[in-house]
Amino acid sequence: MEFNVKSGNPEKQRSACVVIGVFDSRKLSQAGEQIDEVSEGYLSNLLRRGDMEGKLGQALLLHNVPNTLSDRVLLIGCGKERDFSDKQYHAVISKAITTLNETGSMDAVCFLSELNVKGRDTHWKVRHAVESTQDSLYSFDQFKSKSESARRPVRRLVFNVTTRKELTIGEQAIAEGVAISKGAHVARDLANLPPNIANPSYIAEQAKMLSIENDKIECLILDEKELKEMGMGAFTAVTQGSDTSGKLIVLNYKGAPEEQKPIVLVGKGITFDSGGISLKPGERMDEMKYDMGGAAGVFGGFVAATEMQLEVNLIMVIAAAENMPGGGACRPGDIVKTLSGQTVEILNTDAEGRLVLCDALTYVERFNPDVVIDVATLTGACVVALGDQASGLMSNHNPLAHELLNAGELCGDRAWRLPLWDEYQEQLESNFADMSNLGGKGAGTITAACFLSRFAKKYHWAHLDIAGTAWKSGKSKGATGRPVPLLTQYILGRVNA
Ligand code: BES
Ligand code: MN
Ligand code: ZN
Repeated sequence: MEFNVKSGNPEKQRSACVVIGVFDSRKLSQAGEQIDEVSEGYLSNLLRRGDMEGKLGQALLLHNVPNTLSDRVLLIGCGKERDFSDKQYHAVISKAITTLNETGSMDAVCFLSELNVKGRDTHWKVRHAVESTQDSLYSFDQFKSKSESARRPVRRLVFNVTTRKELTIGEQAIAEGVAISKGAHVARDLANLPPNIANPSYIAEQAKMLSIENDKIECLILDEKELKEMGMGAFTAVTQGSDTSGKLIVLNYKGAPEEQKPIVLVGKGITFDSGGISLKPGERMDEMKYDMGGAAGVFGGFVAATEMQLEVNLIMVIAAAENMPGGGACRPGDIVKTLSGQTVEILNTDAEGRLVLCDALTYVERFNPDVVIDVATLTGACVVALGDQASGLMSNHNPLAHELLNAGELCGDRAWRLPLWDEYQEQLESNFADMSNLGGKGAGTITAACFLSRFAKKYHWAHLDIAGTAWKSGKSKGATGRPVPLLTQYILGRVNA
């Protein structure tokens, strides 16, 4: 898809389609008024006759509108003007794109980016128009024998801005939107791939390929044997039940002078979580292929940031493993020694995410990080607490937590903070080791983060539990690409500060 910005008159666009907003009830947007005027009331006549109310989600495709130069005019219902905010904006862009795609307009000039969205500026509107477009065009059909793609898909979109002064802002916004969409696309593909393909070696290969394409990126892969030798007893306790070797995957992007401390992203990469010996029930177990959603998210965020060539030092670490109940698998009751030296009694082999992550968190100390953000589909409890709206955020550093919360609000990929009070730590006590990997009844999301916090004492750290946000279940089952926008927005904020 090719994106551009322009500042022009709607009636003068030589394109397959011009996209115009209509508010409820029957109120033309400014660009609509302009077309109405040159066409001697053609649009207002239709509205008066009742062809369209302007309700959110409506679409009306018109041909040969008098005195206009485009082949078609597409009217998109935007709902009540005073309610028009982020969510509605996303919905109208999506509706416009799917309609264009289904009706053969291969290029279009879209005036929806001119509409007033509460509290949002041109940069935001153009960037989100790009993101919403790419988001609604995404499909994952590489394993379908017959492709269901449109015969004449949209190829070129121009978003209109109100003044020529805004063109530079618009171009910058497009570049950001394209990079973030690419990151989200990579994350979704990686997560949607079946677990027999997207195993730890596959993710490692993808990382290696990224480092070959970009000479500012270095890649390091450690296999199970090396992890064991290094002393990652928790990580290898998880990998040992699987025939597929676990891997620690490191990508290092040097976009800023060496003395600048790096932002480190750590992802949980359980490519399939069967639960291990503490086997999960069978229902919806296929969805545990998404247990590498954290890995996919940090990979996507890394892709987005490097696509934009941001002046930042960024390191991505993925703890990749399969959690399987093999003959060599760890058992409930096993005690292991972590890379930090602390010992853990494994009371439930299904609490494996924290086991691979704790060693990765100790590992990243060597980078002298500015901040460390880990991302994980860590607890079912987080789905109970926050559903699919917000990712759970926990942190040992208030400024970092606030920056992440604000970044989420700005890009619409939101997080919500939960406390990490010391009192919760008591739930991790073990009779036989320094701690257990099980928090017991109540506050499962928090006690999982408490476990991780014991390995993140040496730096500013935040943890994102994306168990509810990384993928959708049911009829529209699929990866969402979250939290790529959130991570990228945070990094952008850091670079611009
Ligand atoms: N990957 C799961 C968490 C999960 C479950 C995410 C369902 C999304 C949907 C994680 O490894 C897990 O199994 N967690 C257990 C922890 C428990 C054993 C302490 C859970 O949440 O039940
Ligand atoms: Mn598990
Ligand atoms: Zn898991």
